[in-house]
Amino acid sequence: MSVPIVRTVAELRSVIAEWRRSGASVAAVPTMGALHEGHLSLVRSALKKADRVIVTLFVNPKQFNSAADLAAYPRTENQDAAKLAPLGAHLLYVPDATEMYPAGFATTVSVAGVSEGLCGAFRPGHFDGVATVVAKLFLQTGADFAFFGEKDFQQLQLIRRMVQDLDIPITVVPCPTVRETDGLALSSRNVRLSPAERAVAPRLASILVETAERLARGSPVLPTLAEARAGILTAGYREVEYLEVRGEADLQPIASIDRPARLIVAAWLGETRLIDNLRIPSSSLLADQMPRACHEFAAGTASLIAVRLP
Ligand code: PAF
Repeated sequence: MSVPIVRTVAELRSVIAEWRRSGASVAAVPTMGALHEGHLSLVRSALKKADRVIVTLFVNPKQFNSAADLAAYPRTENQDAAKLAPLGAHLLYVPDATEMYPAGFATTVSVAGVSEGLCGAFRPGHFDGVATVVAKLFLQTGADFAFFGEKDFQQLQLIRRMVQDLDIPITVVPCPTVRETDGLALSSRNVRLSPAERAVAPRLASILVETAERLARGSPVLPTLAEARAGILTAGYREVEYLEVRGEADLQPIASIDRPARLIVAAWLGETRLIDNLRIPSSSLLADQMPRACHEFAAGTASLIAVRLP
């Protein structure tokens, strides 16, 4: 069985209208293609929640900072469709750039606050591009649910904020980061790592685990982050773009762990930029879950498919 593909808003709406006539609920899984197990886990979650699941595949030019990066982005529609078919996704929506941004297109959706700092500081315009295309995808699909991974945590919080602010009638469903068995968060960029870099890459996740644990136990934020940053560089990363503790809901910087928080990082390993984040657990969870997670990472025995660390 192959997954049906539509390429225009008109075709998309006609298929969805038919589903709606039979009372079906609809979920969307927005992607830029180059699908990996992280994306497929979103699709599986969506299939459990809704009667019909649309995967969108659009390499959105508005969220790229450089033309070279956009040109280099993998385009693997056939392989993506082949991965989706056995899961039972109902529709693949693959608009081209003129369908998404016809001549005269002049609107930008910009979400203040959560889009500032972190990736927003290093990728100017990126989050405006994300917010604009995701708003369009929500309006084009009219889906009841949309599924996003927690790995792009700033993106997730920005989309939640936008949905709330603009009264878009959709439920955003966050899904845990999917990891390799050694802890490395799945990313389309991981294929760019050389074998030597791939061996080093999981240290980012293990340092995050150790650091989150220390912070939760009351270690002071700034010195602890400085040590973690040094550890990432010693492990072989070329540059730490940012390593910060932010309030989980609003992504504002916090100086002590006095509310739900995220430890969030972007770092360069050779020519590859990797991002990751972890919730900083409340101390009541530490005795049970966090040491186990640390131990599994350290021992390389974690079987981390879709583990949401506390
Ligand atoms: O996370 C992504 O793949 C993209 O940023 C998204 C949400 C599909 C928007 O282009």
